[in-house]
Amino acid sequence: MQLESSERTSPMSEPTETALVRLEDVHLSFGQTQVLKGIDLTVNRGDAVSIIGPSGSGKSTILRCINALVQPQSGQITVGGTRVDQLTRETERIALRKRVGIVFQQYNLFPHLTVLDNIVLAPTRILGAERRATEVFARELLEKVRLSDKAKAYPGELSGGQQQRVAIARALAMKPELVLFDEVTSALDPETVGEVLWVIRDLIREGMTSILVTHEMRFAEEISDTVVFTENGRVVASGTPEQIFRGSDNSRIRQFVGGLSGGRSAARNGDALPDPMP
Ligand SMILES: Nc1ncnc2c1ncn2[C@@H]1O[C@H](COP(=O)(O)OP(=O)(O)OP(=O)(O)O)[C@@H](O)[C@H]1O
Ligand SMILES: [Mg+2]
Repeated sequence: MQLESSERTSPMSEPTETALVRLEDVHLSFGQTQVLKGIDLTVNRGDAVSIIGPSGSGKSTILRCINALVQPQSGQITVGGTRVDQLTRETERIALRKRVGIVFQQYNLFPHLTVLDNIVLAPTRILGAERRATEVFARELLEKVRLSDKAKAYPGELSGGQQQRVAIARALAMKPELVLFDEVTSALDPETVGEVLWVIRDLIREGMTSILVTHEMRFAEEISDTVVFTENGRVVASGTPEQIFRGSDNSRIRQFVGGLSGGRSAARNGDALPDPMP
């Protein structure tokens, strides 16, 4: 029996503990509409994976599955040992969401709370963390997102880019194992996009496991360990940034990447982009 189990662990198989997130043959429909048609995705601890692809291809739905905001009809989703597709109770889903941060295009800060209180709210209310220690941590996070001077400001007094950085700090305040970013710069004025990308870049360099849906092609190319191209509910290609952005022989990918790279994304996020917040 011993022999049999060691045979099963072929040298080619990945050690399971390095994969923090794994989707296997995930199918999801909304009513009659098939949205995910067999998604496979592996994200190792400490890696950054970008999901790119045309509108409606299922990118946001993949993130929502990982965070148990929607449940697939079939397939397996594992996050750090938890079978997300098998969670049946809302309490279990809430427990998962404490471990998986998500940042959306719309930052949805509480307008009547200061920046500091926005960050402190969830850890103290949901995790029951002690207020004073949480405030100290929140100030560290504000430093990380380069907003130390805005602790007492209200969201309405901040630019879109600053508010989005607060939203990132708010997600980090829960000390997540993983952060999902869904087009977090798409709604921003062009001049504030760079400062948000810088913050995300720093996080990834520090080893935060991240899955990003983005249209910022240069950024995805620079920071990703793996880039996944989705189309029509399927992963059409997955590989290194080099393979996807430079070496793909798939005409759809070339067309997609070429179309966006020539657009304003590239202009805003060029290789020579200086740090906007030195
Ligand atoms: N709650 C829902 N009910 C019905 N259909 C939905 C729902 N959410 C998403 N869809 C459909 O699922 C498909 C995939 O949507 P999804 O938001 O995942 O795409 P996307 O790749 O993130 O697109 P975009 O780039 O525009 O954000 C779309 O056709 C969308 O209309
Ligand atoms: Mg989307």
